[in-house]
Amino acid sequence: MTFPFRVLLVVAFLAGPAFAAETARPAHPPGAAIASAHALATDAGFEVLAAGGNAFDAAIAVSAVLSVVEPISSGLGGGGFFLLHDAKTGQDVFIDARETSPAAATMDRYLKPDGSFDRDRAVNGPWAAGFPGLPAAFVRLAEAHGRLPLSRSLQPAIRIARDGFEVYGRFARGYQQRREVMERYPGTRAVFLASGEAPKEGDVFRQPDLARTLQLLADKGFDGFYRGEVGEKLVAGVNAEGGQWTLEELASYTVKEREPIRFRYREWDITTAPPPSSGGIALAQMLQILDGWDLARLDESMRVHLVVESMRRAFRDRTFYLGDPDFVKVPQRLLTSRDYAAGLRATINPAKATPSDLLSGEQTPLEDDETTHFSIIDAEGNRVGGTQTVNLLFGSGLVAPGTGVLLNNEMDDFALKPGEPNAFGVMGYDANAPAPGKRMLSSMTPTFMESGDRVVVLGTPGGSRIITMVLLGILGYDAGLQAQAVAALPRYHHQWMPDVIDAETGAFSPAVAQALRDKGHVLELPGDEADGGRGSSHVWGNLQTVEWDLRENVLRGGSDPRNPVGKAAVEAVGAKPR
Ligand code: GLY
Repeated sequence: MTFPFRVLLVVAFLAGPAFAAETARPAHPPGAAIASAHALATDAGFEVLAAGGNAFDAAIAVSAVLSVVEPISSGLGGGGFFLLHDAKTGQDVFIDARETSPAAATMDRYLKPDGSFDRDRAVNGPWAAGFPGLPAAFVRLAEAHGRLPLSRSLQPAIRIARDGFEVYGRFARGYQQRREVMERYPGTRAVFLASGEAPKEGDVFRQPDLARTLQLLADKGFDGFYRGEVGEKLVAGVNAEGGQWTLEELASYTVKEREPIRFRYREWDITTAPPPSSGGIALAQMLQILDGWDLARLDESMRVHLVVESMRRAFRDRTFYLGDPDFVKVPQRLLTSRDYAAGLRATINPAKATPSDLLSGEQTPLEDDETTHFSIIDAEGNRVGGTQTVNLLFGSGLVAPGTGVLLNNEMDDFALKPGEPNAFGVMGYDANAPAPGKRMLSSMTPTFMESGDRVVVLGTPGGSRIITMVLLGILGYDAGLQAQAVAALPRYHHQWMPDVIDAETGAFSPAVAQALRDKGHVLELPGDEADGGRGSSHVWGNLQTVEWDLRENVLRGGSDPRNPVGKAAVEAVGAKPR
């Protein structure tokens, strides 16, 4: 397909000595590969690798620079998930740095006097924010996995926050979309209107307060953010706008290391995000359902039909069963079992769409998406997939005065009112109800794929569509595509409710769209009369992926062509002599 937007970014590859198919797996990649949503972040990762760091130090550098240059998507005031592979031990670790709920944020706080849901409070300002997790993740990455001090890995972010970077189109447009909310708060105005006017493309955007906060984090570690001057300003800033944070709750934030979800799809070992992400369980369900068919041999409309039916079933279960595993019993073993997938597969009619209301529920709208993802493989074979977020565009819009920290609006990812769709149109019930210290359900799904031939890291932003984009990425790699082609793949999505297939412009040929309608699917295609004026995005996502081709000992990177400032690159940094 062709995309109606500016295309193709840096795609580099670096080849080591060729390996014949029957040759043993190479011990090391011939360098390092990094893909992220901003070139400055990718470059920062290579800077830290060249200074002697490993992939985990590079992950801190990339993540922190994204926090500075993409306040639209993620930041110190938000959270994230980091999937790590340690080449020396062979172990995979999942760092859960998801935000946590303040004790005061009970469900009744999000109701108006007439009992209806207070959407403004859920997504804007002090009640929208959970306690941030990203700074604690940097500390854990540096202390438990990195080779360099945190102060070194944070240097690029501090420098860029202090000296500034060039405002790009998505940033300037996003600001205009969120302007009314952001300009409610004096702390936010001080950052975003520092020059006297709203940031516009080509301006140099400096964040001196954020540089100082990063420096305190670099010098003092956890206490530099969660206690002392910064912690006090964060709590004061939230409470001055009517919120109820306490210093004790902020200082008690902790990241969790969790066991990733693992399963097999055809010849791939998939390692991915466990709860409180919903992504890994959904991927396991969808791919194990699809394992019952040889997708490559099916015509395209049948293939899309079966993929959509797998999406529908996984999202139905997400609605009812998934939440923070420290608070609710998630039936993970059942939901990720091959037998359960076989049972779901048996309910799929190859000739007809299953109406979602036969699986029970109610109709919901979809809206926009943010968040950001990066993927790294270093020359030792260490890997990181990091997905991080402040949730919607510029999070809650609230900067705590004097910190430069833009707080998230992740509370909207809880089921703040049972059955009420959140900004991504996904619903939830008890499993995802808020509770003090609980983590809200997420769709972020950093993922590894490994076969005898290839090692892959992939992920993307996109709210509930993250899960289906990662699914389509996995199917793309399985079909033999390389990293950049996977990042560019056309996208479609079904999330049980609303009972529609949402698709990017040009994702389906007219014949495939008609064949899907003939099976009973409702399609919402941009510009299509059936779209019903819902205004869905014409394109979505920002997939960043790297792969190590073991047969040829080649690294490749793929950066989503939908994002003109992203960058995937490969460098010989850290390469071992052969
Ligand atoms: N805030 C988007 C997600 O975590 O799924």
